[in-house]
Amino acid sequence: MKITLRLVISLVLVVALVAFAFSFYQVREEKIRLTSDLERRTIVLAESLQESVTPLFKSDSPEKLNRFVQRFGNRDRFQGIAVHDARGQLLASTADLDPQIPGSIPQVVHVLAEGRPADSFVHVGNRRIYLYAFPLASGEETIGVLTLFYNASYIDVRLEEIWRHNLIRFLILFVLVVAITLIVVRWSITGPIAQVAVWMRDLRTGKTGTVKPADLPKMDAALDPLISEASRMAKSLAIARARAEKASSLLARTEPPWTADRLREHMRAELGGKKLYLVSNREPYMHEKDGSAIRCIVPAGGLVTALDPVMRVCDGLWIAHGSGDADRETVDGNNTLRVPPGQPAYTLKRVWLTKEEEDGYYYGFANEGLWPLCHITHIRPEFRLEDWTHYRKVNEKFADALLTEIAGEESPLVLVQDYHLALLPALIKEKRPDAKVAIFWHIPWPNPEAYGICPWRQEILHGMLGSDIIGFHIQFHCNNFLETVDRFLESKIDWEQFSVTRGGHSTLIKPFPISVSFELPSGAPASESWPTKEDLLRALGVEVEYLGVGVDRIDYTKGIPERFRAIERFFEKYPEYLGRFTFVELGAPSRTHIKKYRDLTTEIEEAEEKINWRFRTKTWRPIVFLKAHHTHETIGPYYKASDLCMVTSLHDGMNLVAKEFVAARDDDDGVLILSQFTGASRELKDAVIVNPYDIEQMADAIRLSLGMPPAERRARMGRMRETLIEFNIYRWAGKLIAGLARLRLTDETSTSEATP
Ligand code: F6P
Repeated sequence: MKITLRLVISLVLVVALVAFAFSFYQVREEKIRLTSDLERRTIVLAESLQESVTPLFKSDSPEKLNRFVQRFGNRDRFQGIAVHDARGQLLASTADLDPQIPGSIPQVVHVLAEGRPADSFVHVGNRRIYLYAFPLASGEETIGVLTLFYNASYIDVRLEEIWRHNLIRFLILFVLVVAITLIVVRWSITGPIAQVAVWMRDLRTGKTGTVKPADLPKMDAALDPLISEASRMAKSLAIARARAEKASSLLARTEPPWTADRLREHMRAELGGKKLYLVSNREPYMHEKDGSAIRCIVPAGGLVTALDPVMRVCDGLWIAHGSGDADRETVDGNNTLRVPPGQPAYTLKRVWLTKEEEDGYYYGFANEGLWPLCHITHIRPEFRLEDWTHYRKVNEKFADALLTEIAGEESPLVLVQDYHLALLPALIKEKRPDAKVAIFWHIPWPNPEAYGICPWRQEILHGMLGSDIIGFHIQFHCNNFLETVDRFLESKIDWEQFSVTRGGHSTLIKPFPISVSFELPSGAPASESWPTKEDLLRALGVEVEYLGVGVDRIDYTKGIPERFRAIERFFEKYPEYLGRFTFVELGAPSRTHIKKYRDLTTEIEEAEEKINWRFRTKTWRPIVFLKAHHTHETIGPYYKASDLCMVTSLHDGMNLVAKEFVAARDDDDGVLILSQFTGASRELKDAVIVNPYDIEQMADAIRLSLGMPPAERRARMGRMRETLIEFNIYRWAGKLIAGLARLRLTDETSTSEATP
């Protein structure tokens, strides 16, 4: 737009300048022409009148002179004549002129003195008069003066007319210039460049496969060099991508599967006896009072699901917020305890927060600000200065806790988790430049426009870029992050290495799609002994043929109301399923201190009530909403017994429920309905992929899933399980930790990837 504006302004200025100069010249020429024409006509008339006036003047007959003079009354532009005697006294004048002729006319005086004609333009009222005084001579002597008066205002009128016409011409020209410039710029410059940009973006993101000449947008010849360079670059990109895909699939196929044991061995080799430090807001085990007893619960959410198995293998230190009401009663003097209870495998260190800190940092800045900022679900983020202040302070508190723990260790390895602790990497590096720090962002990263509304956008980026590695679930979020840094920070971005360098320190930005363990924790009951579909239905008090399940934290990003609407629509469209299908929603209350979350729970409960009221029978309900904190032991049997599982997130970094469902289906059965807006949909391509905003499509997806032939169900589930067996959480941890451990910190601040 800036270019177009500049172009339009310059062209308009040039046109205006030329138009003005041309008008000025035209007006000047016209003025000269009209004035000399008037003078010439006046002189001719004066000379002819002189012949008639002189005898009358000499005859000394004022009546005759007066009669003659009156004949020249106001005719068109000619106003009349006046005759003065040798003393300058007015003898006669045309009647209309009388009131306009001043007592003494300087030109008359001049003619009497010099004996030569004199002329001038004078203003009478609002008119401009041309006055020509001519001597009446008798021999050598001037005996009087004949003065002619012409109205010369028509010259001014004509000149104004020229200015006006030229102004109108200029305005028409102005509109034409602007319109033509905009059209030409759009056709020849911005349009083609936008086309090239879309085309290049599609190539970069892999939307177009191989590059064919027909793919190239039709361009102006002037852009040919750009197009040919871009096409060459695209070709190399496509070749490189194909090679990389081939290489990684070969590597993946030749690699033995990642298991807990393999990760343990791998860690031993990579860490060489070093401890792994993990920092997150959410703790993996939380102690709560239950009457006079204390119970230990595993909080819901992907972070704990994914990282607890890793820590069990690595035996490190996990620092997290102690948020259970019995947490203080279960730690030692250093605020630590060994977990999991009964099978201690690693150490949990709890950090205590005041109520105000928890309000401002966790509920406020993290969950009312960053959470809706990063998830595109049309919930407006709220940013408050006091929340930001708490967020900074709590990040410092976590940094202090960690720095104390790593005080005696050389080059410690630190894994920071998620959006609650965005400032932590820079705080650690400030004090311990030798530490190797990675932050893994469990939620999506938005595009620069969406991110840009955050008042502390630079501080957050600065905090994160303290890390040596920043991990996201998918490449798309890495690209968004790099584009965001590019927009808001002074830095050098290497799009080949996917790294950012600032002040001598480099950070690698990489995708690490998180996953599940695919193994039951040791000691957990084998799936064969889990409650069956019949057991579950009996407990629910419903008799049905088909069972569906949804497992979520009750969060507006999960698309639970949309899911319920789709179930209602399914029964409207396919009434033959009434009484034959029940959907069980296992919803864990989450962040209930925030009003939007409480409102969402009410909305879900009301939807359940409405749909059940509409369709229920004595022995059947379409939806069962079980709002509670459900353990893995409760959820596992539902995964195993259900005909379908619905994951309908409006936006989700990965969504491990989808992967847990697939991992639980060791019978190779069941259908996964999966939102296209989850990171998981990039890997689980055999799910029935849906747009959760499209209720009709989701209703049809339920119908498709329930009617899917068993062979197809098994084939799809089999392929998804193969993917997850290979890309499990041990592989995720192995790659991330090895990536970090092998980094060479070449000086105090800069990072480079070591050759594996
Ligand atoms: O996935 C994002 C995340 O914040 C995880 O870090 C966490 O496991 C989950 O959501 C649960 O959220 P919370 O810790 O707020 O209960």
